[in-house]
Amino acid sequence: MQGNSPGGPADRRLPGDRSVEVGTEPVGEADNVSKTFGETRALIDVSLSVLSGQCHGLVGRNGAGKSTLVTLLTGLARPDRGVIRLGGQPAPNLADRSAWLARVACVYQKSMVVPPLTVAENVFLNRPTNGERSAIVSWSRMRKQAHEVMLEWGFDLDVDQEAGRLTVEQRQIVEIARALSIGARFLILDEPTASLEKAAVERLFERVKRLRDGGVGILYISHHLEEIYEICDQVSVLRDGELVLHGRVKDISQENLVAAMVGSAPPRRATEIEAVQKRGPFGERRLHVSNLSVHSRSGSVDDVSLEVRAGECLGLVGLEGSGSSTVADAVVGLVKPAAGTIAVNGKSVPPGKVNAVLHLGVGYVPQDRHARGFAPQLGVGENLTLTVLDRIARNVLGVVSFQERDRIAQEQAKKLQIVARSLDQPVSSLSGGNQQKVVVGRALAPDPSVLVVVNPTVGVDVASKEALLDAVGQARDAGMAVLCVSDDFEDLRICTRLVVMVRGRIAAEFDRPPWDRQRLIAAVEGLEHAGVDQR
Ligand SMILES: Nc1ncnc2c1ncn2[C@@H]1O[C@H](COP(=O)(O)OP(=O)(O)OP(=O)(O)O)[C@@H](O)[C@H]1O
Ligand SMILES: [Mg+2]
Repeated sequence: MQGNSPGGPADRRLPGDRSVEVGTEPVGEADNVSKTFGETRALIDVSLSVLSGQCHGLVGRNGAGKSTLVTLLTGLARPDRGVIRLGGQPAPNLADRSAWLARVACVYQKSMVVPPLTVAENVFLNRPTNGERSAIVSWSRMRKQAHEVMLEWGFDLDVDQEAGRLTVEQRQIVEIARALSIGARFLILDEPTASLEKAAVERLFERVKRLRDGGVGILYISHHLEEIYEICDQVSVLRDGELVLHGRVKDISQENLVAAMVGSAPPRRATEIEAVQKRGPFGERRLHVSNLSVHSRSGSVDDVSLEVRAGECLGLVGLEGSGSSTVADAVVGLVKPAAGTIAVNGKSVPPGKVNAVLHLGVGYVPQDRHARGFAPQLGVGENLTLTVLDRIARNVLGVVSFQERDRIAQEQAKKLQIVARSLDQPVSSLSGGNQQKVVVGRALAPDPSVLVVVNPTVGVDVASKEALLDAVGQARDAGMAVLCVSDDFEDLRICTRLVVMVRGRIAAEFDRPPWDRQRLIAAVEGLEHAGVDQR
């Protein structure tokens, strides 16, 4: 296996060069590892081996233990039992961060990029550029080295840019570049596509393939099973902390993969864009957006008008930058329109006053749950009921009735299949998908008259997704007016009408389910002639 050792920069092959046969040394291994948090057995005797030049998929339902395994493989936590090996060697001491960084790199579910620093500074974060012991940072050398890493792996990114201005995709590149520049040949991607738009996902896949072909071993975590089939060679399935299936991707059908994830009771799978059959007459107009224009770096809006009636779910579909999520931001008062009006139940929305908007009866599931979605240090129950405190704090003393609070929280937790030890478990220690369910539950709990959701099922596993969409669908049928901004076509099955946005404008409207996937994609990509669905 000459020339294949997963070593430092010296023996790095040209990315994409498959002429040298890629070796199969393990770059990262878990050997019978177990990890427990209080009463939660997050991992039970799990063994898994990621080989160089391979992409290894890791799947499982929300809370199955995937991210926990990542924390063990990256040295953020120690297994209770079992061994971690990196590049065939026993794992370094937990305290020796630089030793870990030199062997394994991870793009976490949550971004670790430091916004006020530049790209180059982020790539060389916490590392000397003047040799091991010098405390002095050589800015010019750092920029040069960062630039070289970008060039070598074909990443197109200006190293002097401030990281705070980067898109999610660019932040991932920074994190991957940071890892590769240290020489790590084991890369972990924990749900990297969850907040990427379609074209960015394609580009990420190209990068992953190039890294793999260059001898890097990749552990790839995703809830999008089609991605596993597209880029992975091997796949492992975790269920309730146990490894229940492992094999070559080409030997395992999607049906068997889902069966392994779900266990004995396979759920009815949400068939894509199998839309609700419900058609008007809908109730009164709850949300009215007229001639809205917004200037925004993340997607401007140009003269958009729309309305949502009680019992209706309007899907707003568009690529990142199309302005679809900016409309949602404007409706909840997060951004100030340059022109136009927004009214909820006939009352105009005050820009910049999100709290006032929520008091008008608007529920909101934001795009970025980490920034605006929940209070991580509070418990599941408290988070679920933060929005209904007014209603349950009705006794004379103004004291919150814990019984009532728990009842409401319990109900939401059950409806959305939230996996938590108890209602007191801090949301920060829930798995990523379960955190998302808490955010949705919290928006639904006060029974708002208008519900604005942005990518509501991001990071949620296939079975829970259905429960979550059903919950929103029931709210719609009970008379809620729902505005659903999403780039996940499965979300669109709860919609009664779709509006497609391209470059800030409404490009097409579909007013009768089921949605024709091909035509919808064409419209979203801006290929179809703008106009109203003619069927
Ligand atoms: N720090 C912690 N304290 C307590 N419990 C934890 C902690 N971290 C994880 N857990 C629990 O361990 C279990 C596994 O969580 P993990 O984050 O590994 O799931 P996951 O497979 O990554 O799920 P998802 O797809 O939702 O991200 C969950 O029940 C979670 O609540
Ligand atoms: Mg996770």
